[in-house]
Amino acid sequence: MRSVGIIGTGSYLPDRVLTNADLEKMVDTSDEWIVSRTGIRERRIASEDQASSDLAVEAAQRALDAAGITAEQLDLIVVGTVTPDMTFPATACLVQDRLGAKKAATFDVSAACTGFIYGVSVAAQFIKTGVYEHALVIGVDCLSRITNYTDRNTCVLFGDGAGATVLGPVEDGEGFLSFELGGDGAGGHLLKQEGGGSRTPASEETVANNMHTISMNGREVFKFAVRVIGASSEAALGKAGLGKEDIDHLIPHQANMRIIDAAVDRLGISKERVVVNLDRCGNMSSASVPVALDQAVQEGRIHRGDTVVLVGFGGGMTWGATVVKWSLPS
Ligand code: ACO
Repeated sequence: MRSVGIIGTGSYLPDRVLTNADLEKMVDTSDEWIVSRTGIRERRIASEDQASSDLAVEAAQRALDAAGITAEQLDLIVVGTVTPDMTFPATACLVQDRLGAKKAATFDVSAACTGFIYGVSVAAQFIKTGVYEHALVIGVDCLSRITNYTDRNTCVLFGDGAGATVLGPVEDGEGFLSFELGGDGAGGHLLKQEGGGSRTPASEETVANNMHTISMNGREVFKFAVRVIGASSEAALGKAGLGKEDIDHLIPHQANMRIIDAAVDRLGISKERVVVNLDRCGNMSSASVPVALDQAVQEGRIHRGDTVVLVGFGGGMTWGATVVKWSLPS
């Protein structure tokens, strides 16, 4: 089977900045608490007329330009999101229409913050087996739309954004070397947005009880996250025949600086190898990993031949990691 890799990246962040000082006026919190407990200083918020597909299209166009291909050449569009524009049609269909990607198959992946990693792992199989040539994988979320801005436990954490990658065939031995995906539905209650589905359809009661916003057991998610970032990165490296000493760049889901620090300590790698943007972006769910990847690419940090580990975790519970031998010049 042929090798498949990332041949272009792009990202988009909305203009509006929500700072810790702004949040101090909304809930009983402080910049000092938020920075010391999470590392987050500010996050971006979509404007009223922007939905996830709008952010996704901007990121996608940048990724297509970077890859040097047109939307018409896409065979597949996969969007990882928990904040689709609407329940259906899929956000991938809306993106396809806006880009004019007429021949592309389209679907969304629901794996919360692991949505992008799940998305690339699925899309890569189609190219590896020769079924498709080019796939667009987007991680996008407008978490501000499902955040309860009266709940200080959650509202300080989340932001909006989109990251995109174009996948295509690469030289033998480059590109994706391995994938490690996992799930534990028994932990589903730890992180959820309960209202609006077939179990509890939208009603006056679901609105009154804040069931259309994120509820989270922060401490349990924290412990889970530290464990799976390290374990899934090591498992993916093992499948690729590599060890943690081979990591040039670790790009983890950006939920909390203390989670990243603890996972990095556990992996025993130096902090210089870790890409972090949560101080400026907060937790953008599915968008966090691809936005951080694109920013690192834009900064010229990643060179051809580097070993990059992308690792995510999120609601479900879900987790996933992939090892990429970078195939693009810096
Ligand atoms: N400002 C001030 N005080 C606060 C705030 C706040 N914003 N939030 C909570 N507190 C208070 C709590 O009420 C509590 O007070 P109490 O002791 O009087 O009850 C105290 O701070 C400590 O609360 P903890 O929950 O123990 O704080 P902790 O250090 O665990 O940090 C946090 C909380 C930041 C949420 C952390 O647990 C965390 O990051 N968890 C993981 C979150 C995560 O990764 N989520 C992923 C979501 S991904 C997705 O799928 C959307």
